[in-house]
Parts: sequence; C-alpha cells; structure tokens
Amino acid sequence: MLNIAIRAARNAGEIIQRAAENVNHLTINLKTKNDYVTEVDQMAEQEIINIIHSSFPEHGFLAEESGKQPGNDYIWIIDPLDGTTNFLHGFPVYAISIALQHKNKLQLAVIYDPLRDELFTAERGGGAMLNNRKIRVTQPNSLKGTLIGTGFPFKSKKDLAAYLKMFAALVGDTAGIRRAGAAALDLAYVASGRLDGFWEIGLQPWDMAAGILLIQEAGGVLTDFSFKDRYLQSGNIIAGSPKIHQLMYKAIEPHLTDNLK
Ligand code: IPD
Ligand code: CA
Ligand code: CA
Repeated sequence: MLNIAIRAARNAGEIIQRAAENVNHLTINLKTKNDYVTEVDQMAEQEIINIIHSSFPEHGFLAEESGKQPGNDYIWIIDPLDGTTNFLHGFPVYAISIALQHKNKLQLAVIYDPLRDELFTAERGGGAMLNNRKIRVTQPNSLKGTLIGTGFPFKSKKDLAAYLKMFAALVGDTAGIRRAGAAALDLAYVASGRLDGFWEIGLQPWDMAAGILLIQEAGGVLTDFSFKDRYLQSGNIIAGSPKIHQLMYKAIEPHLTDNLK
C-alpha cells in the first residue's frame, strides 16, 4: 500500500511541477475567503485517487477537493497540493500529502515535496523516513535555541487575537518562529528535526493526517489544545518532542478562548 501511495504522490508531483512552469495561465477560483483552488489541485487529486482506486477499489476517500467517497474500513486522506497560495506565487514551499486510516487509526503516511524531491514516509510501528533514511524529532531540554513552525489563522479573524497572544508568549523564548505556508511540510519538518515544534489553529484533516503519523513514528508527541488527541476533529494542534510539546502547551494554554479548548 505504501508503494502505491508513493507512486500516486510522485505522479501528482509531476503534474504540479509541469503546471508550475505556466502558473500565470492557471484558472484560480476562490473557495472561501483567502482559500484558493486551481485546476492543478483538482488534476493532482484525481490522479492520486485514480491510482489508489485501481489497486484498492473497496477503499474510501476523504480528499480536499472532491470530498468524501464512502468505502470499507480503509480511508485515504488526501491533500493533493498543500500550500496552494505559495504555489500560485512561485514561493517554493508546497507538497502532496497522503495518509491511510484503518478503523480510525492512521496506518501510513506519505508527504512528497516535488521541488526538492524529498519523500517523507511512515508506517505504523515501522518508524518514519526521509528518502529511505530514518528520521527522529529533536530532543532539546528547553525552548531556548529552538526553531518553531506555525500557521496564521488567516481565513477567519475570530481566533486571531488569541493566536497573537500565543505567538507573543513563544517568540521571545525561542530562536525563531517560521510560517512557511504548507502545514503538511511543517509537520514533516518536525518529524525530521528541521523544526523543533509546531502549532496551528483551524487545520483540516488532509493538512494533518500524514504529518501526524510521521511525527508519532519519529518519537514526537501531538495534542489538541485540550491536551487530548482530538486534533483531527478540532483542527488545533501542538506538536514536538515530549519536552518541547509540554513547554509549548504551557505557553499557549493561558491564551485559549472557550471555543479553542
Ligand atoms: C493550507 C496550508 C497552510 C495552512 C492552511 C491550509 P492549502 O493548505 O497548509 O499552511 O495555514 O490552514 O489551508 O489550502 O494550501 O492546501
Ligand atoms: Ca492543505
Ligand atoms: Ca490543498
């Protein structure tokens, strides 16, 4: 199943990179405020679904652009192009994210960065890899010197004030905070030690599913803002090594509004 997912991700990567040469000629549609989609997102998603469906016709799908397709106990969770806004601007940070869930448990994960030809993979119980080499989260003892990833709540203003307080609480204690614009890659970077931690409000399951398994298999910890594991439901996530996760949670917790808990 992992090999099929890798083939699907690489084929989608080819579609995306071919389109990147002609990005000015794409038709761009607005889904909701600040949320763009192009025919590239749709073509890449269709390619991924076709490849997986031809091998596993019974499996279901939850894909960003085409939504839910019912099936058996296996569900593929797909973001065909994470970082669409970056892609449209030629800002070179975007990826394809594919995860497989079986009876609500994540089983495998693929995040593919077509620009750098970096393939992040994980299988439950089998560890996490970058281009076939094992990866681990970092193990700092404090926030001092850490590099933390995040995403801004740019689609709706309702959580912005709380987010800015979280940001203020963390920024001075770390070496820096990065907002690169593709949550799946941010999570893959935590798994591979390029980032020490990550938090974001209001993500969708397809932004997170593959990255969650990668971090778990790389020795990291994730929770939602209630210190529970309902991040796929709430969209709110804090991730890092056990120590960094705990320190980030401590900094974020005092600023949670009721709707974020
Ligand atoms: C977006 C990116 C971004 C995150 C947004 C997502 P998309 O995904 O992951 O980093 O902040 O919340 O919607 O729309 O480019 O697939
Ligand atoms: Ca996304
Ligand atoms: Ca997307």
